[in-house]
Amino acid sequence: MKNMKLKIIDFDYKGRGVAKYDNKTVFLDRGIIGDTVEAEIIGDKKNYYTAKVIETVDNSKDRTKSKCIYSKSCGGCDFLEYDYKKQLLWKKTKVENDLRRIGGVDSPVNDTLGMKTPYRYRNNIQLKVQDGKLGYYKKNSRELVEINECIIAKDEINNVIKILKNWNGLKSVNTVSIRENYLGEVMIVFVTSGEVKKFNTLLPNLIDSKVVAVFENKNTSGHYRFGKKFKKLYGEEFITEELLGLKFKLSPRSFFQVNHSQTEKLYNTAIDFLDLKNSDTLLDLYCGIGTITLLGAKNAGEVVGVEIVEDAIEDARENAELNNIDNVRFICGKSEEIVEKLLEDENLSFNKIILDPPRTGLNEELIETLLKIEPEKISYISCNPSTQARDLKLLSEKYSVDLVQPVDMFCNSVHIESVVGLNRKI
Ligand SMILES: C[S@@+](CC[C@H](N)C(=O)[O-])C[C@H]1O[C@@H](n2cnc3c(N)ncnc32)[C@H](O)[C@@H]1O
Repeated sequence: MKNMKLKIIDFDYKGRGVAKYDNKTVFLDRGIIGDTVEAEIIGDKKNYYTAKVIETVDNSKDRTKSKCIYSKSCGGCDFLEYDYKKQLLWKKTKVENDLRRIGGVDSPVNDTLGMKTPYRYRNNIQLKVQDGKLGYYKKNSRELVEINECIIAKDEINNVIKILKNWNGLKSVNTVSIRENYLGEVMIVFVTSGEVKKFNTLLPNLIDSKVVAVFENKNTSGHYRFGKKFKKLYGEEFITEELLGLKFKLSPRSFFQVNHSQTEKLYNTAIDFLDLKNSDTLLDLYCGIGTITLLGAKNAGEVVGVEIVEDAIEDARENAELNNIDNVRFICGKSEEIVEKLLEDENLSFNKIILDPPRTGLNEELIETLLKIEPEKISYISCNPSTQARDLKLLSEKYSVDLVQPVDMFCNSVHIESVVGLNRKI
C-alpha cells in the first residue's frame, strides 16, 4: 500500500499517535497530536489500520524539545516531546470522555493536578541489563537503549546508575531495581536467574554513596518483576519512607507509589472527600502496605484494610505499629470475598469506603456487595479511567459522582491516575 499523509488527532492507551483514514482509525507507531506525518500502512484490520511514521511533514505547535537525550529511542516515556500543559489537558479530556462514553456519567472533571517541574520525580525505576549494559527497552521491542541517566528519576538514583555502569559484575544480572526514599537513601535489588557475581568489586564504591541496602533476587519466571526469595547482600533490611507525617517501612518487595509529592495530593484528595469523623467505620479495599488505611485512621473510628498479597499485609501491620495506630485491622484476601465475610460472619458495616484496585478495576461481585452495604461515601482511586468509568456505570444506580480529580502521577507518560468521589443518592 502506498504512503499517505495523516494528521494525528489523539493518542491511544500506549501513548501512540491516532489518525483517521478511509473512515477507519489508524494507530501509528509514534507522533504528537497536531503533527502531520507521512506514514506507511503496515496492517489492515476490519476496523482499523496500523501504520509506521516515515517522516513528520509538519510539526504540531504543541511539540517541545525533549530534555532527555534518549527520548528518540528509549521506550520509557511517551510524552517528552509534548508540551506539559497539553499533557495535563489531554489527561483531563481522556477522563471526561471515558466517564461519558463508557460510564454514562456527565459530571464535571477538575483540571489535572500537575507538577511544577515534571522531571526527577520517580523514586523507583527498573533498568534492564544486556551484555553488561544498563538501560531501558526501545518502544515495542526488546532492544536495549543504554543510558547514563534517567531524566524522570530522582538524583540519587542517577548517581547509582553511574556507579553501576562501571561494575564488572553487571553481566550476571538481568534487571536492576533502584529505589530512593525521602532522605535520599537508596535500596538496590539485582534480579538474576543465577547469582550475582563480583559483588565485592562493587562494594567499595557503595560505601561512600547513599546506598543503604542491596539485595539479590532470583527470578527464573520471566513474567513477574521479582521472584519469591530476596537475599541481603549489603546494609539494611529495609528503608523508611515518609508520607503526610506517617512513616512506612519498605522492604524490597513492598509496593509504594513512585511519585512522592503527587501521591500526597492524590491521597489527600481521596481522604478529604470522605470527611472522616471518629464515629466513622472505614473500609480500605486493595490497601497494599496500608498507606491510605493508616492516613484515614487518623480521623476515623474503626478502620479495616484488605489486600490480597500476604507480604504487603505483614508490612501494613508493621506500619501500624511503627506509627502507634491501633484502630486498624488488616485482613489478607480477595476484597470481593473478605467484604462478604465481614458482613456475614461479623455483622460489620462500613459507612465510608476507599477503593484503589489494579488496572482491571472492580469485579461485579464486589460492586453488588457495595450496593448492598450502601456506604454514605466512597472514594474510588484508579490508574485506569476506562475500567473506573465501567464500574461507575454500575455504582451510579445508587451513587452520584460528585468529584472527579485527575492527578498526574506519571508525568511525561500516557498513564493517568484519578480520584472519584461518590455520595449515596438516598
Ligand atoms: C493500585 S494498588 C493500590 C495499593 C495501595 N492502595 C497504595 O496506594 O499503595 C492495588 C493493590 O490491590 C491488590 N489487589 C489486587 N487484586 C486484589 C483483590 N482481588 N483483593 C484485594 N487486593 C487486591 C494488589 O496487590 C495491590 O496492592
